[in-house]
Amino acid sequence: MSETARIILDGNEYELPVITGSEGEKAIDISKLRGMTGYITLDSGFKNTGSTKSAITFLDGEKGILRYRGYPIEQLAEKASFLEVAYLLIYAELPNKTQLDWFTDSITMHTLVHEDMRRFFEAFPTDSHPMGILSSMISSLSTFYPESQNPNRPFADIEMTIHRLIAKLPTLAAQAYKNNNGHPIMYPKNDLSYTENFLHMMFGLPSSNYEVDPVISDALNKLLILHADHEQNCSASTVRIVGSSQANLYSSISAGIAALWGPLHGGANQAVIEMLETIKNDGGDLQKWVDKAKDKTDSFRLMGFGHRVYKNFDPRAKIIKKAADDVLDKLGMDDPLIDIAKQLETVALQDEYFVKRGLYPNVDFYSGIIYRALGIPTDMFTVMFAIGRLPGWIAQWKEMMENGDPIGRPRQIYTGANNRDYVPVNERK
Ligand code: CMC
Repeated sequence: MSETARIILDGNEYELPVITGSEGEKAIDISKLRGMTGYITLDSGFKNTGSTKSAITFLDGEKGILRYRGYPIEQLAEKASFLEVAYLLIYAELPNKTQLDWFTDSITMHTLVHEDMRRFFEAFPTDSHPMGILSSMISSLSTFYPESQNPNRPFADIEMTIHRLIAKLPTLAAQAYKNNNGHPIMYPKNDLSYTENFLHMMFGLPSSNYEVDPVISDALNKLLILHADHEQNCSASTVRIVGSSQANLYSSISAGIAALWGPLHGGANQAVIEMLETIKNDGGDLQKWVDKAKDKTDSFRLMGFGHRVYKNFDPRAKIIKKAADDVLDKLGMDDPLIDIAKQLETVALQDEYFVKRGLYPNVDFYSGIIYRALGIPTDMFTVMFAIGRLPGWIAQWKEMMENGDPIGRPRQIYTGANNRDYVPVNERK
């Protein structure tokens, strides 16, 4: 017999179905609750609300488990390439050699962006934040490919949009960077891998022969994989909800980029480095900053600490911390901010406030240290997160479309004024 939950409201008892996921996690299906009882559920920030059934990413916040399509993140970060992981997320299985070659070729062939788009860059003020540029540019792509405006085309057409997005996002990101520096843009080079090509477009110059350091390209590959999906987070939920209105994929991804930008989400990687720099410039008194973070009258939070789902440890942070050490070691670099980061982690993790609330370093705490070592400027950190997260957003959008999910439209409990009559302006007090 299938499991049910019983709820008693106004003396009446109702039965609601219980849904069990493939990893044994359970949910009470309340989709018919309002029709049965007149009640809705209230859950600000959706802290305890499942918005969908999904077969893409599994994470267990208590045990610190993260798997894409069943594969542990540790194995993928160690052994796979980013494009292999992108294929896995989007097509649900790891590609065989023929499939990976086809996918890689298709991505490589679409890295160029229309020359007319370069004129957009001229209109952005110097020093524009690259996330603002990226979100606009991705939305603009829909105007260059008007057929994409119907998201219900045959999959072969949708697939072209998917490949174009993965191919063009790094090109646009690197162009935004070059534009802000007043440097000439570098066109993509088709004989390079995905990460090598991005580094070439970022750091290459027409006047010199830029050689990609394999240490840097491998570290970037790992970082992108670690960011590739994270189930129903703020930006993925945004992509799904925008897409659920049948808006096209480009605009749905553009909305995801905007959601990622915030410092409580992907923007935390930039905020962490700015915080560590502030602490360093302030004399390095860590206890002072930990105390500020604990003070409820102070809006300061330890950036890179805490997570909505991970209440034990973030498995991505564990991998990234080690990768940061490896990268600095291999490049023979010493970053004073990594010492501050490690000391801050030690101080915070011994503090009852952080222990009691399950606040641990998250993926963003150490990722900025690696980006710095790779030469990526601070305001490009969240852009790096976006490049990594793109396959996840696409997979989430595709699943939502294939499931035929209804338009996302939450309800509310109204707490405003009751019915009252309009008063002409000269009669108002
Ligand atoms: N520093 C100090 N206190 C904190 C922090 C922090 N970083 N994070 C949470 N708390 C406290 C919070 O004040 C609250 O305390 P109390 O119970 O006394 O009111 C308690 O911990 C629970 O916090 P919450 O805000 O209710 O938790 P949440 O699940 O809504 O927020 C979070 C999760 C990630 C937004 C939050 O931990 C945060 O703001 N962290 C800093 C920003 C950050 O690093 N974001 C990146 C997240 S990982 C990358 C990604 O996937 O987006």
